[in-house]
Amino acid sequence: MAKVLVTGGAGYIGSHVVKFLGEKGHSVLTVDNLSSGNPEAVIYGEFLKVDLAERFTLEKILQDFKPDMVMHFAASIVVPESVREPLKYYRNNVANTLNLLEAMVKSGVGCFIFSSSAAVYGIPEKVPVSEDAPLMPINPYGETKMMVERILKDLAQAQPCFRYVSLRYFNVAGADSNSRIGQSYKEATHLITRALKTAKGELPKFYIYGTDYPTKDGTCIRDFIHVDDIAIAHLYCMDYLLDGGKSEIFNCGYGHGYSVREVVNAVKEVTGIDFPTEDAPRREGDPPQLIADSNKIKKMLGWKPKYDDLKYIIKTAWQWEKRLQKRL
Ligand code: UFG
Repeated sequence: MAKVLVTGGAGYIGSHVVKFLGEKGHSVLTVDNLSSGNPEAVIYGEFLKVDLAERFTLEKILQDFKPDMVMHFAASIVVPESVREPLKYYRNNVANTLNLLEAMVKSGVGCFIFSSSAAVYGIPEKVPVSEDAPLMPINPYGETKMMVERILKDLAQAQPCFRYVSLRYFNVAGADSNSRIGQSYKEATHLITRALKTAKGELPKFYIYGTDYPTKDGTCIRDFIHVDDIAIAHLYCMDYLLDGGKSEIFNCGYGHGYSVREVVNAVKEVTGIDFPTEDAPRREGDPPQLIADSNKIKKMLGWKPKYDDLKYIIKTAWQWEKRLQKRL
């Protein structure tokens, strides 16, 4: 069994990974500054409220807990916000990751899994996009993820005992099938969540940002992956690194996409609610199309997605949204 330090484990994706680590009997310590996370989402292991800006606290935690590996989810993740507030993104995503890496090196912790993003590709020349495509982010969020990947590459080269996996997530959505955990940001920005909140009547109208993209129906296309599938991918990467695997970068998505309009229609079908929508101008920083070529992680690690079904993704997110409503 492994000892794992999880940063951002009170957040959306991190909490699903903590759930699987706990279920498999690993020892987990979650650190999170609770800027967007929720301590109730940490359903296994220990939790400490810590900000990654506190480098010496991080060193102390690493030296006391002595993890076999660190999984790093803590980050700011909203593309349009990164366009408006780039410094927040460079500070939270790059400077704080540097703190964490320095603390790891000082404490002799050598295995790292990084939450990277499809946003590093910008507007890919070819879709599905594979890991060796050029990195040309078109928003500060994607820039920060690319910068950390470069730091990791240099660090692994300089320190052979440091090995990492960078997982480039595509559009993660859905919730735990028993609705124990799910997405609960103070302000919802993601497509499926906003559509569900409109169905619930929490938002008056759903705006479709951009209807003149060079895609089949003019709206953006994304590769939606269920949060449990992305969470399980981390356990495959963990086993790989703990078995001595060398540093690698993997895409993680299903390899096919849905347009914003298709997703909105699927949300209407799953919920049975015909909520109002309106065509709106493009949102800044949005690439027209992002679809993963995930053959590398499938071939190298044997990862197989289990929930490649848009309606199941929406159904689990809807169950979670309804549960959130009951809690209010
Ligand atoms: N969209 C709308 N209306 C909304 C919300 C979103 O039309 O109310 C559109 C967006 O304009 C975009 C698409 O839905 O075209 C997807 O937007 P999301 O905000 O759901 O997700 P993003 O693709 O912007 O970003 C997400 C994560 C990033 C990650 C990226 C990888 O937030 O962290 O997927 O593809 F990098």
